[in-house]
Amino acid sequence: MNKLARKTVFSAFAAMALTFAVVTMTRPSEAAYFQSAKSLFAQKCSVCHANDGTGNTAKGKELKVRNWRTDPEVKKMSDAKMVEITMKGKGKMEGYEKTLGKEKVEILIAYSKTLMGK
Ligand code: HEC
Repeated sequence: MNKLARKTVFSAFAAMALTFAVVTMTRPSEAAYFQSAKSLFAQKCSVCHANDGTGNTAKGKELKVRNWRTDPEVKKMSDAKMVEITMKGKGKMEGYEKTLGKEKVEILIAYSKTLMGK
């Protein structure tokens, strides 16, 4: 193998190693992200929706919150609609646009979807 060929092979390996490092390093932070969404949900949403999204809490029952695991309407609902409801509020649920902001609401909806099995 001549010098140039060796150099090319070396840079290809270096690029692969770098990609691998970046991919593995970002994984734990994704898990941390998910964990923070989970605790934010527990703080702000669980009173009514319950930690598992079933709405099986005293407040949830009182307000007739839907069971996210089984409700067909919720299964059909688009992400945009869910973000909108959470931002603006609906019926007995307050809007979170001012207190949480769009980015956190979007994260909470991404998390909520895991409870809905979407
Ligand atoms: C005070 C109780 C209460 C709290 C707290 C609450 N919600 Fe709700 N939520 C409701 C009720 C009641 C509805 C149904 C509104 C309607 O359709 O009239 C609802 C509806 C929704 C919907 C639309 C799907 C559905 O079940 O109809 C989403 C998505 C949602 N809430 C997300 C959240 C998120 C995320 C949080 C936390 C930031 C949150 N909610 C906090 C009571 C609550």
